[in-house]
This record gives sequence, C-alpha cells and structure tokens, in this order.
Amino acid sequence: MNLLIKNIKQLVTVRSNGNPYKSGNDMRDLGIIENATVLIENGLFKWIGRSSEFTQTVDDTIDTIDASDLVGLPGFVDSHTHLLFAGTREDEFALRVEGKTYQEIAQVGGGILSTVRATRAATKKDLKKLARRHIDTMLTEGTTTVEIKSGYGLSEKDEIKILDAINDLGEECLIDIVPTFLGAHAVPPEFKNNADAYVDLICKRMLPYIAQRKLAICCDAFCEREYFSVEQCRKIFTTAQLLGLRIKIHADQLTQIGASKLAAEMGALSADHLEQIDDAGMIALKQSGTIATVLPGVSFFLHCNYPPARKMIEAGIPLAIASNFNPGSCMSFSMPMMMTIACTQLSMTPEEAITASTLNGAAALGLSEKIGSIEVGKQADIVLYDIPGYRYLAYHFGTNHVAKVIKHGTYFDF
Ligand code: NIG
Repeated sequence: MNLLIKNIKQLVTVRSNGNPYKSGNDMRDLGIIENATVLIENGLFKWIGRSSEFTQTVDDTIDTIDASDLVGLPGFVDSHTHLLFAGTREDEFALRVEGKTYQEIAQVGGGILSTVRATRAATKKDLKKLARRHIDTMLTEGTTTVEIKSGYGLSEKDEIKILDAINDLGEECLIDIVPTFLGAHAVPPEFKNNADAYVDLICKRMLPYIAQRKLAICCDAFCEREYFSVEQCRKIFTTAQLLGLRIKIHADQLTQIGASKLAAEMGALSADHLEQIDDAGMIALKQSGTIATVLPGVSFFLHCNYPPARKMIEAGIPLAIASNFNPGSCMSFSMPMMMTIACTQLSMTPEEAITASTLNGAAALGLSEKIGSIEVGKQADIVLYDIPGYRYLAYHFGTNHVAKVIKHGTYFDF
C-alpha cells in the first residue's frame, strides 16, 4: 500500500486544481512534470513533484519503482460499458460489412434482443466468468475504473441477476466497478406493444428493489425512437432520482428526439453517444454542466457518423471518452484505441483525448473528487507505459504499451 515511484521520465497528472472536470482549452493542460517522483501512502497519493524537490526521508523498506524509462498517466476511467453479457454477434458484424444497418438488424430480432436471449439463458456464475476475463484484461491495458450497465435482462429476475453479478465482481476484482441499472435498454418481447407497462414495471418494482438493496449507483435509459420516448425516460429518471440514483442517458444516438435536452433538464451526470446532437442540445448541456460522453469506437465499428466533439469542446462543453464495450456496437474496451479514433476521426488533440479518458470520465461517474488525476489525496491509480512520451500512446495504436499498473497503491508488472 506504500510505494515510492521515482525518476518517472514524464508524469501526466491531469491535475484539476479542485475542479470536477476540464472544459475548453483547459482540456489541453495536462499538468506534466518531467522527471517526477510520486509517494503513495495507504493507497493514496501523498507527494507528487519533481524528483529534484523530493527531500522526504522514507523508510528503507518501502517498495520502490525506478521509472526512469517510463511515462505515467492516471488510470483510465471507462465510464460507459455494457461489459456483462453472454453470446457474441460476429454474424451481425459480417452483415453490417455487407451493408445492413444496426437498425435493420434489430428489426429482425438481432441487436440488443439477441444478446438478451443469450444473457437470460446464462446463470450468474456463467456471466461472472465471462465478464471476469474482460475485466482482468482491461486492467492490464490501463483501465482502473469501469462502469458496467445492466440492460441485457429486461425482466425483474434477469436484471437483478445481472446487477448481482456486477456487484459481486466489484467485490472480487481489483478494478473499481460502478454499477448502472439500464432496465430501459430495449422494450422486452413480453411488452412488445406496451412499452408504458414495462416503464411502470421499472418504476414500481425494479427501481425500488434495486435502490433498497443498493445494487446500482446510476440509472440509464436508451432515449430513442422505437426504444424509450423522452416522456418515458423522464418518468424513469424522476423515480430513480427520488430513490437516490444518479442519472446517465443514451442520447441522440440514432435520431434526434431531444434526449440531450432531457439530460440537462434532469441534471444528469452524463449524456452519452451524441452522434445526432443539435445546437439546442449543446446549449442545454453547456448550461447544465452535464458531461458529454462520446464513444468513438461505436461510429468506427458501425461505420456511421461521428459526434461533433470538436464543436462541443469549442462550445465549452466538458467532454469524456468511453469505450461502450458491448457485443453489438463496439467489441473493444481499449481506451488507447478510443483515443486514437478520437484524434483521427473527431479531431481531438492527444491532450484532449487523455483528459477526456481520465478526469472527465471520472466526472461522468460523479467520482472526480476521488479518481481521474494524479493529485495529493486522490486514490493512487497510476499506469506506467513503456513509451517515449505521452503523445506516443494514441499514435502507436493497436498495441498495449503498459509496463506497470498501480491500483489503489498496489502494483502489477506486465
Ligand atoms: O450504447 N444504444 C444502445 N446500447 C448499446 C448497444 C448495445 C447492443 O447493440 O447490444 C450502445 O451502443
């Protein structure tokens, strides 16, 4: 739990100076320290600064890492995933390559509902085993906190089974896990022509039970034509907030129905996707301070349009990047890969991409007081990379450059 990391070639702190997130030009300020030393005590950052200024006497027995060849960054905070699922959808991937769209595949029973069938058929034990492999790999690739949504159960029994599995994994894994209830991910077949009745079930039975057992921290909904309307989502979110859950929303992904405005109205932590966001939505997000979370891997994987990240940053909206790892729209949880796509396709700078994947990701989970940057008093989640400098990370893509992960002060070599 106590650790000294000395002579770090380059330390990217992403220091926020007490602000919950960065926006505008500030997203480019990474608070870099060349030749840095970091002292960790009881899992928290105790001292951070230039090696030449480190004058404290430390116990000879303290674990010490000489990081003179390594670059340090805060652990990635992946604030949007659907990581717990059974079954895979590579056949849909092949159909899309031949020209079918995500919506066309969903209309004939594929898409989310095909993963729902496989996930309902799996036991909690099966689901945990499948998810565990992903979570353990994520940590080796530099992600130290991950949000995981339910949403492939869509019945009381199966949504609870999934949330129980996510919470168990949170206890058992080194990575920090934030559970989110996404009962309103799709209308289940049992309620095919009666989405309002399903929304009632969510509000009257699922949410109270989940809140009472503290199975989720956030509540999310897919606010989209053919999924859940603005009114239905407002009802779900109002109930969730009364029960003490924070709000996240799948907004403006396929069509524009006013979802990001709803996010702002509800004071949501984040509005995610935003491929179709309009000017009114941007104005609303800017005023509310809701984090705009872009998911570059989705547009890349589905071969569709990208969210206007550059415009949002220039409008002063705080932006986060997440992987949206799921079997349908992004079968990757590599945060460096998401950064590369953000740079090449969203015209984000490497500095903005790092801020969006760390501090602003933490803000999208309401956790930026605790994680997301390397600052005294925060949880010691730091990743050391074998690269010449931080810009190399998004540049040399498709390869894992992690040398060591320090999670809450405990370190792992890779
Ligand atoms: O964020 N849009 C809704 N949910 C996921 C896709 C889930 C799936 O296709 O299984 C998303 O893209």
